[in-house]
Amino acid sequence: MDDMILEMQGIVKEFSGVKALKDVSFAVKRGEIHALCGENGAGKSTLMKVLSGVYPHETYQGDIIFNQQKLIIHNIADAEQAGIAIIHQELALFKELPVYENIFIGNEISSRGRIHIPAMLAKTQELLQEMKLDVSPYTPVKQLVEICKALSKNATLLILDEPTASLSEGEVEILMDILGQLKAKGVTCIYISHKLDEVLRLADTVTVLRDGRTIGSRPARLLTKADIVQMMVGREITDLYPKQVHVQNEEILTVKNYTVYSSSDPDKKLVDNASFSLKRGEVLGFAGLVGAGRTELVSAIYGFHNGKCHGEVFLEGNRLTIHHPKDSLKQGIAMIPEDRKRHGIIEIMSVRTNMTLANIEKYRRTMDYIDDCQELSDANRYLERLKIKAPGLNTRIKNLSGGNQQKVVLAKYLLRKVKILILDEPTRGIDVGAKYEIYNLINSLTAEGISIILISSDLPEILGMADRILVMNEGRIKGEFVNSQDLDQEQIMHCAVGGTTA
Ligand SMILES: Nc1ncnc2c1ncn2[C@@H]1O[C@H](COP(=O)(O)OP(=O)(O)OP(=O)(O)O)[C@@H](O)[C@H]1O
Ligand SMILES: [Mg+2]
Repeated sequence: MDDMILEMQGIVKEFSGVKALKDVSFAVKRGEIHALCGENGAGKSTLMKVLSGVYPHETYQGDIIFNQQKLIIHNIADAEQAGIAIIHQELALFKELPVYENIFIGNEISSRGRIHIPAMLAKTQELLQEMKLDVSPYTPVKQLVEICKALSKNATLLILDEPTASLSEGEVEILMDILGQLKAKGVTCIYISHKLDEVLRLADTVTVLRDGRTIGSRPARLLTKADIVQMMVGREITDLYPKQVHVQNEEILTVKNYTVYSSSDPDKKLVDNASFSLKRGEVLGFAGLVGAGRTELVSAIYGFHNGKCHGEVFLEGNRLTIHHPKDSLKQGIAMIPEDRKRHGIIEIMSVRTNMTLANIEKYRRTMDYIDDCQELSDANRYLERLKIKAPGLNTRIKNLSGGNQQKVVLAKYLLRKVKILILDEPTRGIDVGAKYEIYNLINSLTAEGISIILISSDLPEILGMADRILVMNEGRIKGEFVNSQDLDQEQIMHCAVGGTTA
């Protein structure tokens, strides 16, 4: 069939005894956008690494037919030569560098031994224009850059492994636009995402993997979200948000007139005079666009912010002075940060150590005796409770799939005894089944009287799980909603973009 650009047949890939891909077949039509879905650890990234030369031909079994020819590649350069480019799940990007440096890093245009910046700027401008991107070559941006990078290599098959997990809404729209344009140009695209709305909106065909095998491949127009979920987890999940209400009357945290300044520009206010309170057992949602100041407000209170900030914070009526996350933890406030890759894991250590290291005091019985048994049983409990897919507790965390690494970080914080738990985008990059487990966990924590601050860009999630919702816009708290059946996304969005609440 010559309308197929790619056919992967009977792919098997093993990592020292663990079969990540057991028998995968995967076919992609020329010019389509083909979504690849599946739970954390299903094998999506591994399959794409096989295709893009990260794992060379000798290291897997099965055949790849690309443009009607058997594809034998030994490295990433071979794949690029053949027209296959991949944008990886873990971004190999230097976020702080401007666009043009990111595009040309390691590949600089030079003349007579000197790096030629004007030439790089001009080429960047050209690529950005071609992509109809209204950004200056000096702006630091993320995935969009990677796409330009891939295109500068003339790819005919572009693989995007969870490109939108950390994009703002605006950036997602630009990306959707770009993918539309690429399709019009005849570029074929494989798209991995846990955001099923996005998948249905974008894809022509959806293939689902489960546990290293192909479950099925169907035209997207014939599928609903529930169908995809069913294929992914092998059972029906009817109620995505198992919300229970455990709010008590007592106010546990009170924040008054809190202002946060930028660390790079001390005159710039990231948060302007925010006041709010949190009750025992309550889930308080923070909604707003990326950049609205939610993370800045909460992490400043927590002691994570480098710049100036002022305001008052009371815990159970007592004024708190917090300079460092350590102070917060001592008071029983824990925060699971948004950027878990940077703050969350020690790559070369085991799953178990990553979970328990920060809580070592909990297991210390005397100066030189650590209670291994308790530690092990706690770690095992969370492995099970969060359905973490790992060969064992001693596996190095870097060998886990992206989503499973996230779950380990969650477990690490859940092992602590806290009064207040701050969750910043806790389900980003996590599959539906595991999300459900996290929501159940939130319920059991609030039932124990623990209060939760939930920051999320996923509005259905906030509406599904919060008791009360604060909406931020440009550093200010613009609205407060008590969650109810009548509250909908539109009311919140309206407020998040700066509209009034009345
Ligand atoms: N380098 C490696 N060494 C050992 N095991 C690995 C390695 N890479 C992946 N695995 C295992 O292979 C399986 C599939 O992982 P993969 O990263 O492909 O999942 P995924 O579908 O991309 O998941 P996610 O949605 O979490 O990104 C997992 O069980 C993972 O632990
Ligand atoms: Mg992956």
